[in-house]
Amino acid sequence: MGNVRSVSGANGLKSQVVEILTPQKKPSFHLWFKILLGLVFLILCFTLYSGSLTWTTSPLKGHYHRFLNWTNLLEVQFPDKIHPSTTVNLREIEETTQSHTEVPTALPTAAPTGTLYHQAYARNYHFIMNNPEVCKTKTPFLILMVPVAPGNLEARDAIRQTWGNLNLVQGEVVVTLFMLGVSKEADVQQQEKLQQENLQHQDLIQSNFIDSYLNLTIKTMVIMDWLATFCPTAAYSMKIDSDMFLNIDNLVIMLRMPGIPQVNYLTGMLMWDRPVVRSLDSKWYVSEEMYPDPSYPTYTLGMGYVFSNDLPRKYVDISMSIKPFNIEDAYIGMCMKKLGLEPTSPPNPSQFKAYAGEYNRCDYSQVITYILGSAKNLIDYWTDLKKPGPPC
Ligand SMILES: *[C@@H]1O[C@H](CO)[C@@H](O)[C@H](O)[C@H]1NC(C)=O
Ligand SMILES: *[C@@H]1O[C@H](CO)[C@@H](O)[C@H](O)[C@H]1NC(C)=O
Repeated sequence: MGNVRSVSGANGLKSQVVEILTPQKKPSFHLWFKILLGLVFLILCFTLYSGSLTWTTSPLKGHYHRFLNWTNLLEVQFPDKIHPSTTVNLREIEETTQSHTEVPTALPTAAPTGTLYHQAYARNYHFIMNNPEVCKTKTPFLILMVPVAPGNLEARDAIRQTWGNLNLVQGEVVVTLFMLGVSKEADVQQQEKLQQENLQHQDLIQSNFIDSYLNLTIKTMVIMDWLATFCPTAAYSMKIDSDMFLNIDNLVIMLRMPGIPQVNYLTGMLMWDRPVVRSLDSKWYVSEEMYPDPSYPTYTLGMGYVFSNDLPRKYVDISMSIKPFNIEDAYIGMCMKKLGLEPTSPPNPSQFKAYAGEYNRCDYSQVITYILGSAKNLIDYWTDLKKPGPPC
């Protein structure tokens, strides 16, 4: 497909060149020399584009950056779906562009379509603490990824005592990991404490981006990158916030139901046609510059969404062509849309609950998620739920 496109593109350019040149009656030697040069240039472009020359080794890479706007090429080739074959291209582009602060300039004849975005592109960051062996010794059915602030030990410990404590649920292997960035005021002491904590529990993953509310999209994309890189064999994953109650048995039971897709599956509490918040004092404020449309595509609420584990790699690759904004769950919705996919309603949508009223044992035994007020609530409710005796 790429070859067909570029051949016709090159022909188009060629015929343009010919058209411009035909009115000239007596082409001089000088002119023929120019035509020859032009053809050599076209052939070179074509060779580079079709990938037979690697960017990293080409001495011309810096030069060509100024002439080619890669996104145009990619978007023309793959209007709404990133084809698996572009994965390599995107990585090569990323490697060669990330060290340049200037953005590559447009090819004059190319139609405007988009640009490459680096801020939420997870491969721009690297892991400074990792447990890369987690999925080498076992193949999890489900991996729970919990974004959490480095300083929030209380939340991590509550999860370790409750739903994060289980590694076999309904006979399926489940792994829980915490994803951290680096706090702005990070000192050597805090970092040492984290290292101790990881030595004890072996469940911390830390990347080198600044851990802040506005950077949650980066955190989510780094989670996706970790899953794609270090745990591609897991069947399903869940991104779940650190202030959540999770009835993990019910989640595993749901995922094993007949008819639950094994690829391109994203589920949770679905949000349809949510307007973008434009009031400056809101926690969810997003500027028109960051996100121009008045509403978001369908997405799953960020408190806890579940996905088949083929998706993380697709999200990371497509994120290069999606302008970053700070609403991570809606950003995943954008990734789905751009991949030509849609989130799926869970078999029983009432199992994904947001705000809880009073604790009710029967209720908590039937749901999958609830947002909680504190780490203490999680421990208390969990302890109560695990008491013997019918919950309802
Ligand atoms: C690349 O092309 C897109 C769409 O044509 C345009 O919006 C963007 O500004 C271009 N990038 C540069 C650096 O010119
Ligand atoms: C987000 O992370 C990047 C990379 O670490 C950093 O440069 C930026 O300042 C952070 N932004 C905020 C708002 O914390």
